[in-house]
Amino acid sequence: MPAIAVIGAQWGDEGKGKVVDYLAGRARMVVRYSGGNNAGHTVINQYGEFRLHLVPSGVFYPNLTSIIGNGVVVDPGVLLEEMDGVRQSGVDIGNLYISDRANLVMPYHRLLDGLEEKSRGKGSLGTTGKGVGPAYVDKAARLGIRASELLDPATFRQRLSFILEHKNAVISAVYHAPPLSIDEIYGEYCAYGEKLAPHIRHTEPLVAETLSKGEMVLLEGAQGTLLDVDFGTYPYVTSSSPMIGGACTGAGISPRHISGIIGVFKAYPTRVGVGPMPTLIEGEIQDMVRERAHEYGATTGRPRRCGWFDGVAAAYVSQLNGFTAIAVTRLDVLDVLPSLKICRAYRCNRERLEHFPASISVLEQCQPEYEEVSGWLTSTSEARHWEDLPPQAQAYVQYVEEVTGCPVAVVSVGPRREQTILRSPLL
Ligand code: GDP
Ligand code: IMO
Ligand code: MG
Repeated sequence: MPAIAVIGAQWGDEGKGKVVDYLAGRARMVVRYSGGNNAGHTVINQYGEFRLHLVPSGVFYPNLTSIIGNGVVVDPGVLLEEMDGVRQSGVDIGNLYISDRANLVMPYHRLLDGLEEKSRGKGSLGTTGKGVGPAYVDKAARLGIRASELLDPATFRQRLSFILEHKNAVISAVYHAPPLSIDEIYGEYCAYGEKLAPHIRHTEPLVAETLSKGEMVLLEGAQGTLLDVDFGTYPYVTSSSPMIGGACTGAGISPRHISGIIGVFKAYPTRVGVGPMPTLIEGEIQDMVRERAHEYGATTGRPRRCGWFDGVAAAYVSQLNGFTAIAVTRLDVLDVLPSLKICRAYRCNRERLEHFPASISVLEQCQPEYEEVSGWLTSTSEARHWEDLPPQAQAYVQYVEEVTGCPVAVVSVGPRREQTILRSPLL
């Protein structure tokens, strides 16, 4: 069995947690490969309802190994709290491992995330404030501290003292904020290191071994492709690569092993934070969708903007990732709408665009060209087979296939594991 990646195809919150939890029953391992605790993945199963920020969504299966890959930036305090929460629900987390190469989110990353956002004023990016962007900046600047360093307190102190001197200079000179204390950070992080030590490992060999035994490895993405630092709506993006390329570098596996790339699309896109969204639904219908679907961020509680299905963005994202299959989630949310709009092209300065533009100022001027399609006005949340869906809902899903050129293999009609239609095999 090969590796299968589960990738967000919009601006995050597509339901990756639900899809990973659903598929993980067949897997031997789930690897979270990117992002940090800016992510919030909801999983609802026999143990309860969880919003996971760092722990992989497959953790609830007893025979499965969960890995936080090298591509993730880990806030150890948040991780330990989350591990406690999962453990207290009766789940064994002995099989959870953190890559020793994963960079850590440090207190100055959280502080700088807030200070940088404040200093941007009206141009703020609407980050989650979890320090994730600054942690990736330090990783690339070679000023990061990695999980392995928690296991070697003397070297950790040495590097922290060098790095903190630099950070404190920026904190006080640029932002006029009080500097942070090395003793406090060192003490706090050494205590985290002691607790996390049994879980910190070379994880790439574990992944390689699982693959060599022919067992299935799921690669769990965070965020979504339109938040990718290269291909998203830059600069309103996150600081990592949620896409398929990020899955290889963030889990430490070769693309040769990946035989399935599943793009997760919400039946309607949502966006939390700042940045353009061409197909934003206007007025009361958006409020109605948001309330019906409780579209508030799982990490920050901020309201999510809701849009009509954007075929231009969907085609772009599918091509970039080379999806082999698609999962459409939250189809049930649209059950109450008599008609739906779908966008096949944008209009920009009298030009018709069928390609997603790179320039944010062009994207901001794009007006969607809509086609109106009929809704189904029937509950789909009890559907368990493709044939159970009303013809209008089937046609809507087929539209997603048409614009992406990729089969929709999974249709999700509710947040629970069993509210899932497996339409065609994933391999
Ligand atoms: P993720 O970040 O991609 O894992 O997605 P989130 O967990 O942040 O947001 C998805 C939300 O949709 C969660 O509240 C899920 O419980 C919920 N959800 C997932 N699939 C479905 C579905 O098919 N129908 C409905 N109504 N809710 C869903
Ligand atoms: P999951 O994995 C939705 C958004 C933030 C902000 C931008 C940059 O749950 O789908 P950051 O804190 O990453 O520097 O913020 O990215 N963002 C997400 N939006 N879901 C997420 O993760 C997100 N992670 C980051 O709202 O606009
Ligand atoms: Mg989320």
